Amino acid sequence: MATDALINKLNSLGEEFAEALAALSSEQDIREIQARFLGKKGRVSALMGEMGKMAPDDRRTIGAAFNKVKDGIAGSVEAKLSELVARADAADLARTIDVSLPGRTRSAGHAHLLSQVREEAVAIFGELGFEVAEGPQIETDFNNFEALGFAKDHPARDEQDTFFVDEGRFLLRTHTSPVQVRTMLSEKPPIKIVAPGAVYRRDDDPTHSPMFGQIEGLLIDEQVRFSDLKGVLLHFVKRYFGEELDIRFRPSFFPFVEPGAEVDMQCSFCAGGDSSSCRVCKGTTWVEIAGAGMVDPVVLENCKIDTERYTGFAFGMGLERMAMLRHGVSDIKNFYECDMRFLTQF
Ligand code: DAH
Repeated sequence: MATDALINKLNSLGEEFAEALAALSSEQDIREIQARFLGKKGRVSALMGEMGKMAPDDRRTIGAAFNKVKDGIAGSVEAKLSELVARADAADLARTIDVSLPGRTRSAGHAHLLSQVREEAVAIFGELGFEVAEGPQIETDFNNFEALGFAKDHPARDEQDTFFVDEGRFLLRTHTSPVQVRTMLSEKPPIKIVAPGAVYRRDDDPTHSPMFGQIEGLLIDEQVRFSDLKGVLLHFVKRYFGEELDIRFRPSFFPFVEPGAEVDMQCSFCAGGDSSSCRVCKGTTWVEIAGAGMVDPVVLENCKIDTERYTGFAFGMGLERMAMLRHGVSDIKNFYECDMRFLTQF
C-alpha cells in the first residue's frame, strides 16, 4: 500500500471513530469501541502491521500519522467520558427533593392495656415477695372445683357458668384458683405466689366477657392471719389505685375460704368529692375489687398440707375490672376490639 493511501485510511478510521463515538452514551459502549479501534487486534493496530512494509524514509511520517490518530481517539474518549460524568452530576444536582413533605413515621407499638395491668400487678405483689405461678387454661374438674371445696352438686358451681371440653372430661378454667391447688400439690410451704392468666365463663354483657383475666394470690405459711391478707391487699390498692384509698371487707361465701369476704376499695373517681352522681360506684363510694379469705383447711387437706402447722390466705381479682376502675372504661369489649383509638390512649 502506498504511504498516502495508508495515511488516508488511517485518517478515515479516525473520522469513523469520531462519528461512532458521538452516538454513544454509556461508558461500557465507549470502552468497547475504543478496544475495537485501538486494541491489540483493533482496526488501527491492524494498519500498523502495514507500516513494516514501507520504505524506512516513509515510516517516520506514517508513525507520526499513527500517533496523531491514536492520540485523537484516546483524547476524544477521555473527553466523552468526562462529559458523561458531568452530565450525570448535573442531573443529580437538578433533582429536587421536597423537604416540606411530612416524614413517614413508624410508630412504635406498646403493650396492650391488659398486659400492662397484669405486669404492674405482678410487679406490685413482687415487691412483697410473691412469685409468679402459672397453670393451664384447660383444667380438670378436680383442680378447678373439687379440691377447692365445690362438691359435684354444690350450688356455687352454678355461679361459674362453665365451658366443658372433651365431653366433660376437662373444662376451661373458670378462675385462676386451680393454680392454688397445683402449687400446693407440687410445692412445700412457705408458698407465696400470684397467678395471672385467662379464665372462661359463659357470660357476656358490658362488664363481663366469656374470656377475661384474673390474678390469684396465695400465701401459705405458719401463723398467717387475716390481718396479713388485709395488709397485702391494702398495699396493692394504695400502689395501684391511689395512696389515699382505703379498703373494706364484706363477709361473703366462696367454697375454698373460711372466713370469706368480698373486698371493696374507695371509689377513686369520687373520693373526697360528690359521689351522688358517680357512674363508677353508683353513689355508694365503694367499688368491689376482689374476693378473698383464709384458705379453708379442707382445701389444705385436699392438697396434702399439714393443717396443724399451716394456715394461709387467698385472693382473686379481675384484670379487666382493675383496668376499668383505674381508667374509667365502661365497656369491657373495648379491651378486645383492637380499635387503635382506644388502645393508643394507654
Ligand atoms: N375464684 C373466685 C372467682 O373467680 C375469686 C376468689 C374469691 C379467689 C376468693 C380467691 C378467694 O382466692 O379467696 O369468683
